[in-house]
Amino acid sequence: MSGKNEKMSAKITGIGYYIPERIMTNSELETMVDTTDEWIVTRTGIRERRIAAPDQAASDLGFEAAKAALKNADLDPKELDLIVVATVTPDMALPATGCILQDKLGATKAAAFDVSAACSGFIYALTMVQSMVGIGHVKKALVVGVEVLSKITDWEDRKTCILFGDGAGAVVVERCPQGEGILGTFMQSDGSLGELLYLPGGGSRNPITKENLEQRLQYVKMKGDGLFKYAVRSMVDAAKSTLVEAGLTTKDVDFLIPHQANIRIIEGVRKRLKLDMDQVVVNIDRIGNTSTASIPIALGELNESGNLKKGDLVIMVAFGGGLTWGSVLFRR
Ligand SMILES: CC(C)(COP(=O)(O)OP(=O)(O)OC[C@H]1O[C@@H](n2cnc3c(N)ncnc32)[C@H](O)[C@@H]1OP(=O)(O)O)[C@@H](O)C(=O)NCCC(=O)NCCS
Repeated sequence: MSGKNEKMSAKITGIGYYIPERIMTNSELETMVDTTDEWIVTRTGIRERRIAAPDQAASDLGFEAAKAALKNADLDPKELDLIVVATVTPDMALPATGCILQDKLGATKAAAFDVSAACSGFIYALTMVQSMVGIGHVKKALVVGVEVLSKITDWEDRKTCILFGDGAGAVVVERCPQGEGILGTFMQSDGSLGELLYLPGGGSRNPITKENLEQRLQYVKMKGDGLFKYAVRSMVDAAKSTLVEAGLTTKDVDFLIPHQANIRIIEGVRKRLKLDMDQVVVNIDRIGNTSTASIPIALGELNESGNLKKGDLVIMVAFGGGLTWGSVLFRR
């Protein structure tokens, strides 16, 4: 039991994920745009990705991941105080996907809202929830990272459509004494580089009009080479900052869970952190880049594999549009 004035933190007590059934292979993409399996595999490491059904929205994928995480934590949704959904592909602009998910789960006691930080969204949401749980405003929370990128992908743009996939991951977070669970967090942004990865249409700048739709503004635009040069450096800086905060080094790390944007970025981060490849969780070959969902899906797969043991030190590190980057270090 903790003393009244003892500082508290938060720990992950449940992990779950969901990926849609439909698999889209590189060969299928070869029939849609001017590309090859060889180009995609060499440049990105992606062989296939999952695509949501036409009637599946973010809250549907998030619901499946949330149910799995709650089951893993053995927690009734009615005990949740807070639901935070990280996504850039919400069901709709209003209400928040968090509120839609709250209703689906029957989490009647919870406050719910969304966080928008692109591929770093799950890390940003978890960092914020850890603070709220640590301070004591919230005791039990659900953090979901979900993306249905297939619905904002321009399937005529070979530079982006080969990268993205759909999926959701979720964790249950509960109070614990400081020194257990989440040991370090880091977040940073650089809004001056926003146009490296953006979706111009559908908001108040370029609302949905016939003209804007004709200019394909409803689809995500990316300058991949521009992003690449920031990705490795930012992810390494973020990982090192959380380790310093916790008074630990990369030698203490058991697993690295990087955002799955490109196998070459993952390899660059691994090398600079001096970790072995078997310490790095990689699923980009099967899942593609699912933005904010990529880290919690990879965490879910690691947990399911049985390789993640109690006491293991895990560092999760993300980088994405905004630009945003961040990291969460935790002990299982
Ligand atoms: C997107 C990415 C895989 C592209 O790889 P790249 O090595 O940078 O490739 P480039 O964009 O420089 O393109 C090289 C050439 O391949 C071509 N090309 C682009 N997409 C292609 C495709 N799907 N198939 C075949 N050729 C393609 C380009 O047109 C270009 O041809 P050119 O030299 O004749 O102009 C890579 O830049 C990347 O992963 N960037 C970072 C993504 C990221 O971090 N995102 C943030 C988080 S989501």
